[in-house]
Amino acid sequence: MSEPADRAPLAPKHNGVPLVGSAVTFARDPYELYQRLGETGDVVRFSMGTYDMATVLHPDGIRQVLVEDDAAYEKPDGPGVDVLSDGLLLTDGDRWQRQRSRLQPLFYRERVATYAETMATYAAAAADEWATSDAVPVEDVASRYTLRVLGKTLLGAETADQHAAVRAGAEAIRERTSENPVAVSVPDWLPTPANLRYRRGIERLDGVVEELLADADDSGKDLLSLLVAASEDDPDGPSEAEVRSQVVTFLFAGHETTATALTWALYELGRNPAVASRLQAEVDAVVDSGRATLGDLPALSYTEQVVREVLRRYPPASAVFRETREPVVVDGSRLPEGTFVTLPQFHVHIDERWWDDPMTFDPSRWDDITDPPGDGRPEYAYFPFGGGPRHCIGMRFARMELRLALATIAARTTVNHDHDGVGVDIGSTTRPEETVRATFETR
Ligand code: HEM
Repeated sequence: MSEPADRAPLAPKHNGVPLVGSAVTFARDPYELYQRLGETGDVVRFSMGTYDMATVLHPDGIRQVLVEDDAAYEKPDGPGVDVLSDGLLLTDGDRWQRQRSRLQPLFYRERVATYAETMATYAAAAADEWATSDAVPVEDVASRYTLRVLGKTLLGAETADQHAAVRAGAEAIRERTSENPVAVSVPDWLPTPANLRYRRGIERLDGVVEELLADADDSGKDLLSLLVAASEDDPDGPSEAEVRSQVVTFLFAGHETTATALTWALYELGRNPAVASRLQAEVDAVVDSGRATLGDLPALSYTEQVVREVLRRYPPASAVFRETREPVVVDGSRLPEGTFVTLPQFHVHIDERWWDDPMTFDPSRWDDITDPPGDGRPEYAYFPFGGGPRHCIGMRFARMELRLALATIAARTTVNHDHDGVGVDIGSTTRPEETVRATFETR
């Protein structure tokens, strides 16, 4: 840490409405709340219901939290999503380390490369099906696609028939993790409509996990069978509860985020003819027989730019959350122990200090940008997959899936719709405020 915590000044506090703090503004307009917080500083305390919160808005401070001082933070005890609590997303310390080491090999570059064919083949099948239908609800069909890919590659299962049940569960988790903390202080056991919806969604998801486990083998060749094998053979292996939680974690984290990104990409292609034509020109020059391959990826640079721009303008994970284990100093300001810290991609990715005309979707802004950026922009002005030891384990998987799917869909179809100016619903994932319906015309 840069300086002793007891000497640094306490971070300034943004005052919201008494009692509920800033929860009302957040519920009304998260963009507005963070805009206001940014007017107070780059490290700002605020309150939401009973929670003492803080946000870090400068990329250097974000890097400090995620990378340099990572050990001073833990995953917060936030809204109770019991089904995820034993999985990789929410565990901490040695337990997290053991889980991460066990699962990491499934996400090595060579391993992820073996998923490419499934990703492209299923995208081709999906695009052809969409092209034979009237207008399709894009988010729904995109998530059907990403769930199918996840099932085949990581769970060794055909999950198409379970889509509705997984969606119901993902919906329940999203609603619970997106509520503002004022609502979360209602106890779980109260039969409120929200609690009942949560329980019903989770029951359906549990049913899917049950079926997946009943059919799983212990060959260790995919995530599910690896977990099953470890729980049977390894004395330090996961308990049955942990295996279940891990499967739910991957069902949720592994399909909802990529589906949201694909939805926004298709929405933007349908309203930006210039972007769609440039993408199709690239794909027509690179992709043979309407199905992108692993070997095509290096030449699909504009496809990559479209994906980057989607993840900038509509970061599927809207913010990263941490809780301070001890008093910390971020960017010269002190935060007390037990502060719930947000690092909001949805705000930082449109901060005018780092981005010109940030609300405009413009993949050409990445024309000259190298990775890591050599243009003077701080590294953490863009962090769709988080950073440091807890960065997204599925990053390579997701980036490959999005590029292969987009290139394949663009090679086979043209997307059309009449939506414009669709609002962004900032929950734990960043999704369209209305159902985007589009037609896909065979090329
Ligand atoms: C565009 C798609 C995706 C985005 C934007 C995304 C974003 C993120 C972010 C920001 C984190 C860090 C959370 C934190 O630090 O608290 C994360 C973690 C995680 N992601 Fe993703 N993700 C995506 C796709 C995926 C996929 C495809 C999978 C699985 C196949 C996945 C599984 C996970 C898991 C298990 C973690 C927890 C990792 C850990 O703490 O060790 N994600 N993701």
